[in-house]
Amino acid sequence: MNYKRNILITGGAGFIGSHVVRLFVSKYPEYRIVNLDKLTYAGNLANLKDIENAPNYEFVKADICDFETVCGIFQKYGIDGVIHLAAESHVDRSIKDPFTFARTNVLGTLSMLQAAKHCWNGDWDGKLFYHISTDEVYGALELTRPEGVPSDISAHMVYGDEFFRETTRYSPHSPYSASKASSDHFVRAFHDTYGMPVIVTNCSNNYGPYQFPEKLIPLFINNIRHRKPLPVYGRGENVRDWLYVEDHARAIDLIFHEGKVADTYNIGGFNEWKNIDLIKVIIKTTDRILGNPEGYSDGLITFVTDRAGHDLRYAIDATKLHRELGWSPSLQFEEGIDKTVRWYLDNQEWMDNITSGAYEKYYEDMYGNR
Ligand code: NAD
Ligand code: DAU
Repeated sequence: MNYKRNILITGGAGFIGSHVVRLFVSKYPEYRIVNLDKLTYAGNLANLKDIENAPNYEFVKADICDFETVCGIFQKYGIDGVIHLAAESHVDRSIKDPFTFARTNVLGTLSMLQAAKHCWNGDWDGKLFYHISTDEVYGALELTRPEGVPSDISAHMVYGDEFFRETTRYSPHSPYSASKASSDHFVRAFHDTYGMPVIVTNCSNNYGPYQFPEKLIPLFINNIRHRKPLPVYGRGENVRDWLYVEDHARAIDLIFHEGKVADTYNIGGFNEWKNIDLIKVIIKTTDRILGNPEGYSDGLITFVTDRAGHDLRYAIDATKLHRELGWSPSLQFEEGIDKTVRWYLDNQEWMDNITSGAYEKYYEDMYGNR
């Protein structure tokens, strides 16, 4: 079959990537979607069970750092668009093992760019290298409204007067964000130096189904279910800006098709939460769905040593994306959290397959027994 487009999505077996792959495979039967993933600890083909037999879907197990193999994939499938999500994504792991983050996020992105440059060979017509990045590259914001007050932007809570904008200077603090910042610079350098059509987007914290349970929300839902402690870093005063993962995937779809080449878009839902308040919502929602009395799991909260270099506040200003391309988040947070908690409780097998056996051992070695 002759496909209208041949799109390479990297990291498609991970959390956000699996939602992007699912959206593109089902929405665009006229496109061939090739999912390139190394299947690290974070990659899980169970995330894509529902579309794995779709005629327009191909999975290739490969490492983005392997330039020859990536070139072979470009050639075999006639790739004309790349959506690059593959990365090491967990801040705590980057603190323990920064080298792996530099290898995958920096050298891996460079290898992807080199392969695209080599295979497209200066014919940029109809081509796009779309790089998915994070708000963490901008560093951290102050908490100038400690109680959180609704601002004029929307009815949502806002904890400070400043926001990350597309023009905000990069100031990464963790090895993870430093590696993502470096990869963003390489992507832009390939546009400025060679003329490659690129787009970069920087998104806030995602939540929703299929997130690996080292991240706050799935970890805590699972721990509540198993009556295990909920390790809150520091005093839980840090603020994160949360977006439902399917809203991120919709933004990626829109930007891939209508975004301006060489441009940057920030993606976020104006949805700031102090960790401790978010944790209380997770506890309340999980207890309600499990049929526990209110307050049943409050005692599981355990304050632990803070994350090294823990960024205080992230807050994305996504007005450019709204103004230029008409995107806005579709889901209210209350609805998104309810949906998310239900999904993890309804999909225990998915969770148990990850947290059992050999993985559990690895997890304990890395983080201690929680
Ligand atoms: P994830 O850890 O769930 O998934 C990463 C995927 O990349 C996994 O499937 C893994 O197997 C694959 N991968 C890792 N190294 C690879 C390699 N060398 N070669 C090929 N595949 C490899 O991550 P996620 O949370 O889905 O994040 C996806 C992307 O979005 C990342 O680039 C991340 O920086 C960015 N991002 C994440 C968030 C968030 O809240 N999770 C927010 C903004 C941006
Ligand atoms: O902002 C976007 C980023 O969001 C992405 O680029 C990263 O890939 C993604 O992992 C996420 O980073 P965070 O570090 O913000 O997410 P995490 O779920 O690890 O932590 C959320 C907040 O909760 C953070 O302030 C640390 C805190 N935390 C986390 C864990 C895992 C705890 O208090 N206890 C925990 O056990």
